[in-house]
Amino acid sequence: MVALDGPSGTGKTTVARRLAERLGAGYLDTGAMYRVITLAVLRAGVDLADPEAVAASALDTVFTIGTSPQRPEIELAGEDVALEIRGPEVNFAVSPVSAVPAVRELLVTRQRALIEEVLTAVGGIVVEGRDIGTVVAPDAPLKVYLTASAEVRAARRSAQDNAAGRDTSHADALASVGRRDRLDSSRATSPLRPAEDAVHVDTSELTIDEVITALGELAGRRGLLT
Ligand code: DC
Repeated sequence: MVALDGPSGTGKTTVARRLAERLGAGYLDTGAMYRVITLAVLRAGVDLADPEAVAASALDTVFTIGTSPQRPEIELAGEDVALEIRGPEVNFAVSPVSAVPAVRELLVTRQRALIEEVLTAVGGIVVEGRDIGTVVAPDAPLKVYLTASAEVRAARRSAQDNAAGRDTSHADALASVGRRDRLDSSRATSPLRPAEDAVHVDTSELTIDEVITALGELAGRRGLLT
């Protein structure tokens, strides 16, 4: 198993999926799980400032998440919500929702079960998130913490949004990256931080291919190549 943590805009999702393909492993996007709960909370019209109401709505949410790196589906009560969970409303609301301890407890339990399932079925998994190496799977044999400068991350975010048909300026992307970093790093439960034994990789000056090569070598040295 590879635990891949770090803030958004570091190339984490692309890296995690391609690394999983290279290793012949499964893939779990834990951010998508926080996002689908957030979408359900928003649709239910719940007050984001009311943690108990958010937790109750999260407990009521029925969703499924795929673990194939080629096509990780995400469905909310049977509806494909892969695009909607990456939209601006969810981007804005996901930090407060993921700061609610009961939401984290619910999802961490589900994540551990999914990881076990995939490890048994496929033999390996790359899991991406914010607290994988610290909370979800502290025994993971390889923990990687991806970073990149805020400028680079904002540029990647606005390019990604523009490619998806959403017009996001660099300034807006920089503000949004900064806001989410602050909220994710300062929350009381499982704040974003590297595990003590994580390998740090700064992707600011690296291409995706270079990152994959570096991580593939690391995984190989730890006997994780299948
Ligand atoms: O990786 P992402 O941008 O899709 O994550 C969306 C949000 O979910 C992010 O702002 C923080 C939260 N998150 C979290 O708290 N813990 C995780 N393991 C994954 C994501």
